[in-house]
Amino acid sequence: MTDSQGDGVGGVTAMDLYEKLTAQGDKVRSLKTAKADKAEVDAAIQLLLKLKVDYKGVSGQDYKAGCPPSESAVVSNNGQSGNGAEEDTVDPWNVATNSAKGVDYDKLIVRFGSSKVDQELVDRIEKVSGQKPHHFLRRGIFFSHRDMHQVLDAYEKQKAFYLYTGRGPSSQAMHVGHLIPFIFTKWLQDVFDIPLVIQLTDDEKYLWKDLTLEDCHRFAVENAKDIIACGFDVNKTFIFSDLDYMGSSPEFYRNVVKIQKHVTFNQVKGIFGFTDSDCIGKISFPAIQAAPSFSNSFPQIFKGRKDVQCLIPCAIDQDPYFRMTRDVAPRIGYPKPALLHSTFFPALQGAQTKMSASDANSSIFLTDTPKQIKNKVNKHAFSGGKDTVEEHRQHGGNPDIDVSFMYLTFFMEDDEKLEKIRQDYSSGALLTGELKKMLIETLQPIITAHQEKRKNVTDEMVKQFMTPRSLDFNF
Ligand code: TYM
Repeated sequence: MTDSQGDGVGGVTAMDLYEKLTAQGDKVRSLKTAKADKAEVDAAIQLLLKLKVDYKGVSGQDYKAGCPPSESAVVSNNGQSGNGAEEDTVDPWNVATNSAKGVDYDKLIVRFGSSKVDQELVDRIEKVSGQKPHHFLRRGIFFSHRDMHQVLDAYEKQKAFYLYTGRGPSSQAMHVGHLIPFIFTKWLQDVFDIPLVIQLTDDEKYLWKDLTLEDCHRFAVENAKDIIACGFDVNKTFIFSDLDYMGSSPEFYRNVVKIQKHVTFNQVKGIFGFTDSDCIGKISFPAIQAAPSFSNSFPQIFKGRKDVQCLIPCAIDQDPYFRMTRDVAPRIGYPKPALLHSTFFPALQGAQTKMSASDANSSIFLTDTPKQIKNKVNKHAFSGGKDTVEEHRQHGGNPDIDVSFMYLTFFMEDDEKLEKIRQDYSSGALLTGELKKMLIETLQPIITAHQEKRKNVTDEMVKQFMTPRSLDFNF
């Protein structure tokens, strides 16, 4: 990655440069007005020109006074600020941090330019939906957002919105981390009673992985079964494979092309870190993940309306796609999609990275048996406990770095019980083995129940969900 692709001019961001440029422009003007010495004016102009070149390198855009850099330029280079080792890496392909506590999400909010899901927003969601907030909201698992207040303002004025989320079908088996956005999306669908579109990017996985088109499409259908098993309402949900839907929907493809016309190669290099040797399929793919954010990509659902607000629940790794989408939206006459971002369900080995399907030992899969779950947790789940029972009893464990405790924050619904576990573990009253047992006993029935529900998903049901059709909703 070169400096020009990121905000790497000494770690300077596009916004820093924009502000410097604005100040330097003012300086040149005042020097000229004051009829200052020619050498002084020339030096100021030289610096102005240099700043313009730096700005273009970092933001991918020409400097225009009064037009601050777009969202995706604020965080180019996959969200790395160029500060080197101490920065966490978070992008659609990699999540890595040096901290055993996991990614520093507060810093990420600042770097990505999103907003924190604070108590005020959680209270507002409760008030507007009339439902107790999901524990993912209460516990800060969905921690960041873009434009949620706008969505709620409109909803209060009877203006509905729709949900959009997705999955890249890279294998037959999804892991527990993949469930997080879907569990939360199902809750949002239920409490707001709104339509949902789910994109299965089999095309993306073909472009990125060493898989055949047939495999990717097959995985899409298999993954659709796991998604359906989360309990989505068939009358309000449309699931689609890109490989199928792109070819059958002129409206969807028209939006893809519009987006492609309004994003430069330089911009996607900056946002996603593509290089000259990446295939052109990858370079143009972000337009395909962006298109479902616009309601007229689904004429069968929204009857040609282009102004229905979209809300995207996903983990924060997908944000680069939607920073790009939000930049492009006003330029092609569409509303910007709103977002709700989740933290990552960590790998068994520790919160330095997320649970990932490409590392079998890091993950608990939705296909795992109760015995496999037990073995994986006992063998691999990183412990924040002390080395010996005596030490642990004396000093207590650290729940903030303990993977079993972290998993319980995602899956144990009872707030009081969870808090008691935190206290007992911290004081040393609860041992690592006992904590792991609690996690195993929490996870096993959830995964078994999921497998039962998945077994009941018939091919006919999959076909129903995946057929373009009108949904049970009047806009
Ligand atoms: P994919 O298949 O990598 O992930 C699917 C969804 O799961 C989230 N996710 C996680 N959430 C919590 N903890 C984890 N360890 C974890 N790993 C993955 C992802 O953020 C995502 O929400 N390109 C996308 C597919 C896609 C999409 C979308 C996702 C297309 N359109 C719109 C979200 C919203 C992908 O490959 O996701």
